[in-house]
Amino acid sequence: MTQVTARSAGVRAVAHPLIEHHLTRLRDVATPPHEFRELVGRLAVLLAFEATQDLKTHPVEVQTPLTTTVGNVLSQRIGLVPILRAGLGMVDPVLNLIPTAEVWHLGLYRDEATARPVEYYSKLPATRPVDVALVLDPMLATGGSAVAALAALRQWGVREVKLLTIIAAQAGITEVQERFPDAQIHVCAIDPLLNDHKFIVPGLGDAGDRTFNTIPS
Ligand code: PRP
Repeated sequence: MTQVTARSAGVRAVAHPLIEHHLTRLRDVATPPHEFRELVGRLAVLLAFEATQDLKTHPVEVQTPLTTTVGNVLSQRIGLVPILRAGLGMVDPVLNLIPTAEVWHLGLYRDEATARPVEYYSKLPATRPVDVALVLDPMLATGGSAVAALAALRQWGVREVKLLTIIAAQAGITEVQERFPDAQIHVCAIDPLLNDHKFIVPGLGDAGDRTFNTIPS
């Protein structure tokens, strides 16, 4: 079981030596894209393990090679909602943990001039919402992108939403909590500052660019 430091209701900062180790490598500007992607995947799994501990199950009978016994299987429809682009790096590792999950992509980018989110892709349907949505995005800065994603999920009718983010700024957490007090927020680290360009400090730079090796020269 991981140690959880609850800074405020609804926020779980997961404290674990493996998280600290991988996060330190992730922050390092010298970490190359291939390692950055691996680290995002490992941290996504550790976050997902923590965030899914309250999923509902129901008992089923299973035949082992020796006898029958009763086990438990997941009983809810679970949706993974990666926020493009950076959230894509968290999908496959979490999908390995929850192979029956559905994946619903949301394309949002942050306008560089205004720091406001712009939606450019959504395939969320109008009906049959999942029971639990895990929103995947490595970064929560101003909170604008997360709020837009949560609004889309509320519109779809999803009742239980968990935001899985690797590094969050306190300002972004506050923004999400004010707009969606019921949403759970699971983070590896809460950083203190946003700079003038709304980048998280100390942070790790731009997760999308570092994941996809598109850092402007
Ligand atoms: C980053 C990040 C979040 C968002 C966080 O994405 O992955 O989606 O910014 O900022 P916010 O909390 O202030 O909204 P970005 O816009 O850089 O797009 P990308 O993933 O395509 O690089």
